[in-house]
Amino acid sequence: MPRFRFRRPLSRRILLYTSASLLFLLLVTSLTPIISPLPPYTGQYEVGILDLETAVPRRAVHSAVLKETGEKAFELATLALTLYYPSALPSSPAQPWARPWLPQPVSLVGTGYARLVGVRFAPLQALVTFFLWAFGANTVIPGVVDAPVLMGANATWVGNGNGNGEGLGKLRGVEDEGRGLRTMDEERTLPCVVFTHGMAGMSQSYSHYLGSIASHGYVVAAVEHRDGSGPGSIVHYPDGGERYVWHIKLEDLEAELPMTLSELKAAQLTFREAEIQETIRLLRLLNAGHGHLLQNLKPDSPRESLPGFANRLNMSAVTVAGHSYGATGALQVLKNAPSEPMPVNGAIVLDPGKGSGLLNKDVDVPALVIDSGEWTEKQVEFYGEGWHFDVVRKLVDTTKKGWFMTLTGSAHPSCTDAPLIVPWIMKLATGTTLNAKVALEEYISTSVRFLEYLRDGEKKELLRSDVTSPEGPLGDAEKRVKIKGKHGADWEVHVTPEA
Ligand SMILES: *[C@@H]1O[C@H](CO)[C@@H](O)[C@H](O)[C@H]1NC(C)=O
Ligand SMILES: *[C@@H]1O[C@H](CO)[C@@H](O)[C@H](O)[C@H]1NC(C)=O
Repeated sequence: MPRFRFRRPLSRRILLYTSASLLFLLLVTSLTPIISPLPPYTGQYEVGILDLETAVPRRAVHSAVLKETGEKAFELATLALTLYYPSALPSSPAQPWARPWLPQPVSLVGTGYARLVGVRFAPLQALVTFFLWAFGANTVIPGVVDAPVLMGANATWVGNGNGNGEGLGKLRGVEDEGRGLRTMDEERTLPCVVFTHGMAGMSQSYSHYLGSIASHGYVVAAVEHRDGSGPGSIVHYPDGGERYVWHIKLEDLEAELPMTLSELKAAQLTFREAEIQETIRLLRLLNAGHGHLLQNLKPDSPRESLPGFANRLNMSAVTVAGHSYGATGALQVLKNAPSEPMPVNGAIVLDPGKGSGLLNKDVDVPALVIDSGEWTEKQVEFYGEGWHFDVVRKLVDTTKKGWFMTLTGSAHPSCTDAPLIVPWIMKLATGTTLNAKVALEEYISTSVRFLEYLRDGEKKELLRSDVTSPEGPLGDAEKRVKIKGKHGADWEVHVTPEA
């Protein structure tokens, strides 16, 4: 006997399930502390934050066009970045909020992530936006937007002696013309760090790591790459026009000769290198006192603090740093460094890419390579060159100038903000055994010790350690000796510089 069952049409069921899970999500997020606020930065200075977008000489690094719009896929027209820098503002007991952690509009990133996993159906894209909003909307990046940059020891604030007073008269939130503002203990200029994010990442995704480095006295420029590796970004042209840059896959492109995946990655890395070069050019302009000439194309973003950067940057101390795809990019930059356009004195390389092409081995400056525990434990054959670990180890070893180490118990996203904001979810998803905050403190203090080493040649804390685990996951387990970091986590040291 046939039995008939009444079934709702598929679309109705999807609707029902979706709204049920949304309600559930709302309930869970409002009842349990799933979302944690970002902690204060670890250094002694307050942090200024500025989103900046400036016009650069327009050029395409590759001739491929996008099938969807016919636009050139790899055309550089503006440079977008976030500056994190030590500010002259006195420390405040309440943690100031610079701005929402999620880039605005949220739908740009939501749609971007949906497209990234191949979803072109608008309602589903809206759903991803909703999830992002539910988890990220209440998170804010600590800091003060457009705060005055930290001045040298002898700076005077009223009619200041540096000849760059333009910005100072109108400092935001500084009513007493400088009294109470902080200066440095010594007459020094500020070293710079240029940061390049990972695949599917954004410059905002690393705010705690980067803001903390800034709070130790560094000017950090985190590039928002428009190479089609991120979820989404908007180019704002000086004439008021806009262009949306979405994540690019091979099938989105049309070229005279069909591109291969490795050609796509090569084009993206070239694009990234051009953006890094423009970032260094921008820092030079600021340092040369041209800050007041720059137009900030980022909507609603100010620029009052820019003239204050005149003569404040140490352009002989520019370090590149990157994570994952960005770490591959940071190594790539060293191919042409140090040189006039790339005056780079070293690199911080976090989890260098396993699938973003060969790693540049032509390295003449010190590099600090840190693998997460996950990156070291899960080994892959690397483009026919052997195990990834071994390729990286040999690369650093050959330079005789760098370090290679592993932070035990951490995972690939451990240096991002994600494990701080949604610690439980990230712990479940990545299986980390190390506390998220401790992992970041270790990443930060080791990176800052390396930046100090680049300045004065002094090795402190972890950098003084001998090699403890030469073969890492490839050797015998008993030869993998660990050493405690400053915050109590276990490290393995695989390579140290000669002498
Ligand atoms: C800054 O001030 C200190 C002491 O007040 C002085 O010794 C030093 O020469 C000054 N440096 C500059 C660059 O003016
Ligand atoms: C600039 O950086 C270089 C290299 O780290 C350092 O030797 C020099 O003392 C720094 N200059 C100033 C003024 O801070």
